[in-house]
Formats: sequence, structure tokens, C-alpha cells
Amino acid sequence: MDMNKKADRYQRLHAQLAELMKKTSDPLARMATIAALLFHKMDYFFWCGFYRLLQGELVVGPYQGPLACQVLAKNKGVCWTGINEEKTIIVPDVQQFSGHIACDSRSRSEIVVPFRDNLGKIAGVLDVDSDRLAQFDEVDSRQLARIVAMLYLDATLAGS
Ligand code: SME
Repeated sequence: MDMNKKADRYQRLHAQLAELMKKTSDPLARMATIAALLFHKMDYFFWCGFYRLLQGELVVGPYQGPLACQVLAKNKGVCWTGINEEKTIIVPDVQQFSGHIACDSRSRSEIVVPFRDNLGKIAGVLDVDSDRLAQFDEVDSRQLARIVAMLYLDATLAGS
């Protein structure tokens, strides 16, 4: 998708999510809402969902798309790299990423965006896969970071 069109699309989704986040402050409900909205509105998203850091493991959370790995092999793959480096990882070609975990062989490119809980601790990642090469760029990185920042916002402040 063209970068300007993508930015416009994210802008509309952000406004919609800001309203939806007012309904509940439960992070799991918010993850489910975010995954569903993104997956159905972004045509290049083949898999979209969350992995949560639970007792030192990355365990799948709410997602949309094909069946995914439930627990990711420790310190391997794109999601763990995002956690360990505490930063967003963009992978234009997953076959070129050493250690990439292929939950579905159709995935070609990927972005992983870590998120923090209400105490500021890294609590997991938002992971998006595309079945096409090189689908993610700085627009996705910036906008998805804005979206995961909503997960732990106080419901009364979520829309502001
Ligand atoms: N590819 C990820 C694993 C999760 S799936 O893409 C849904 C990784 O390498 O960590």
C-alpha cells in the first residue's frame, strides 16, 4: 500500500480505536479489539496479533489469521528479538532473518512492536505478518507503536 494511503488509513483506525478503548480498560479485550480491527481493515495483514510475556515465555494472545505457534522458542525469532532489544523490528524478507520462527510458511515479511504495561515494563509484542515481501515501513512502525500505547491507558483517558 502506498505510504500516504497507509497513513490515512491508520489515522482513521486510530480514531476508531480511541473510541473503542473507552469501553473497557481490560488489556486482553483491547488486544482482541485491536487485532480484529487491524486484520480486517489492512489488506496486507495476513496474521495480526499479540504475544504476551508470561513467566519468561512468549505466549500467544488474541490474534486474527491462520493458526499460530502458542509458545515461541526462547530468545529466537523476530518476536524475541523485539523483546530483548526493546525496539520495533521490521523484517522485509523473513527468509533472510536468521532464527525466524515460521508459524505459517506463507508469511513473507513481518513487523514486531513491543508494548509496555502500566508499570512501564515490556509486557509483550504486537506481531504482524504479510504474505507479501517488504510490506512494512516507518509508517507501520510509528502508527502501530501509537496503537499499542493504548493498551494500558486509563479508559477515561483513552480517547484523548
Ligand atoms: N515469526 C515470529 C513468530 C510468530 S508468527 O509470525 C505468528 C517470530 O519469528 O518470532
